[in-house]
Amino acid sequence: MFEEAQYFAPVATTEDGGVVVELSRSHPGFADEVYRARRNAIAALAVNHTVGEPIPAAEYTEQEHEVWASVTRELKIKHRKYATQEYVDAAERLGLPQERIPQLQEVSELLEPLTGFRYLPAAGLVPLRTFYGVLADGYFHSTQYIRHHSVPFYTPEPDVVHEVIGHANALAGDRYAALYRKAGEAARRVETDAALEFISKIFWFTLEFGVMTEQNELRAYGAGILSSYGEIEEFRGMDIRDLDIREMGTTAYDITKYQDVLFRAESLEHLEDVVGGFWDGCDDDSIARLA
Ligand SMILES: [Fe+2]
Repeated sequence: MFEEAQYFAPVATTEDGGVVVELSRSHPGFADEVYRARRNAIAALAVNHTVGEPIPAAEYTEQEHEVWASVTRELKIKHRKYATQEYVDAAERLGLPQERIPQLQEVSELLEPLTGFRYLPAAGLVPLRTFYGVLADGYFHSTQYIRHHSVPFYTPEPDVVHEVIGHANALAGDRYAALYRKAGEAARRVETDAALEFISKIFWFTLEFGVMTEQNELRAYGAGILSSYGEIEEFRGMDIRDLDIREMGTTAYDITKYQDVLFRAESLEHLEDVVGGFWDGCDDDSIARLA
């Protein structure tokens, strides 16, 4: 997942202590100075945050709360058709606000009593070793900005819609949360960058873009599919392969397009056996033999 660096906008700190998010020319918010100032302010909240302190509230506009409300409404309908039952039940249990963007502190407080997971704010890309490692401690790094309001159903980068609707809903389920923790424990165990990348690819093809058979249909549990208005309608038509650790760990992917290769678990138990089992036992040597 080193490729993921390309889809997070780079964040720079200026000499006077300012924080600047460098949006690319093709970003929908590139020409919107007001949006860009808000992005910088939100990134600064994460840069200045200390673990253990409450996450500072981000300021959002009415238009941005409307983006959240309409995306939530549309995805909820699609989840009934395309998401796994475990995810739908976990989302129900978490009870995210429907009409406004929740603050990350609030998400964290809803989640912690359920599965012990807490949110940490991220300005942009978090180093892989940190991002995965702290999953073992029950921490999830999350961006806090929302996509540009001109294109409510599109984002070139993972925003709070992806992080919260995709990941927090899954993290509210005991069995998915246990898999996130196992990914973290595996990441902590390995020393080589190659092994860490292998683990991150298994994460990508499962907790980000995983699908499984449920009641004879293909359903999604991956956060990337479940938070994407467009991709959720397309995943059933992709190249669907059997869950295979070696193949997932060595298959390349392009983060800038819909994922056209997906791996299907036969059930949640199957996912836990194959992927949970892999994360439980893997180390640098076992991964080197697979890669
Ligand atoms: Fe994600």
